[in-house]
Amino acid sequence: MEEKKIRRIAVLTSGGDAPGMNAVVRAVVRTACANGIEVLGINHGYSGLLNNDFRKLTARSVDGLLQRGGTMLYTARCQEMMTEEGQQRAANNCRYLGIDGLICCGGDGTYRGALALARRGVPCIGIPGTIDNDIGCTEYTIGFDTASNTAIQCIDKLRDTMQSHERISVVEVMGRHAGHLALNVGCAVGAAAILVPEHEANFENDVIERVRQGRINQRNHHIIIVAEGYSMSTQEVADQVQEQTGMDTRVTILGHVQRGGAPTVRDRVIATQMGNYAVLALMEGKEKRIVAMQDGKIVDIDIEEALEMKKPLDEALYEAEQSISI
Ligand code: F6P
Repeated sequence: MEEKKIRRIAVLTSGGDAPGMNAVVRAVVRTACANGIEVLGINHGYSGLLNNDFRKLTARSVDGLLQRGGTMLYTARCQEMMTEEGQQRAANNCRYLGIDGLICCGGDGTYRGALALARRGVPCIGIPGTIDNDIGCTEYTIGFDTASNTAIQCIDKLRDTMQSHERISVVEVMGRHAGHLALNVGCAVGAAAILVPEHEANFENDVIERVRQGRINQRNHHIIIVAEGYSMSTQEVADQVQEQTGMDTRVTILGHVQRGGAPTVRDRVIATQMGNYAVLALMEGKEKRIVAMQDGKIVDIDIEEALEMKKPLDEALYEAEQSISI
């Protein structure tokens, strides 16, 4: 593809923050600067674009950012960007600022905003940043590894107290409508049961009988992982388990603690690769793409196609876990 002269780009983070978003911003800024491109950081996601809330970023202004959780650009879920009027105003603002391309890091909602802008003539490249790992076109989303590690560190601590009291810990993990995070975490902590939205559990066989089997095998405590999108609430799961096994249960909702903290090596490296790739894609004249990981490689995919793609649960891992966690 022919290289297009890009003079100024902008970068924003949108939706739920994810550890590694700062590493994306750093990589975008440093790659752009190395190629003589000016960078504007848009604050508060698309809201900032609508309100002309931005700052100039330089190679130096992103120093010390790689290891920081959250996003220095702030983030938001912007309702106005879902309206035609908002989308047109955002595109106009890009034009007034002379932005030749916009890089947007976030999840599904972020790409819908990017698609709307691309259709209005603003070249946009999306980068997958969400702890949920629920984006169909990519094997990996930035933040997933850090969130998984944070969750298992918390659950390892819970295990100590559950063991001491011979209790069952019922832990709710984030993930919105998907069970990728819950499955990953459940597998890593050796959970007795993992309840995910993609599978309706047979409560008697998949939960109660597993706890009973554990007790028969002298296990005095158990961890049950519930994805936040599961059909039963975590409290309902705990109440039923307590009623049917006679064991004391405690509910822990990990919540937003999973979104914070310094990114892991994996998140820092992938964020760096994807941020770098996105700038090069704009320089190559790409206008409506999402950076993705496929077969372990960084590639780019048309946003419209990407939005149509579904992300199935890792069924092999789910099945393996079903047979191991007894
Ligand atoms: O998409 C990331 C995520 O943390 C989901 O796992 C969760 O359902 C949601 O965001 C929570 O959103 P908020 O921070 O707006 O409460």
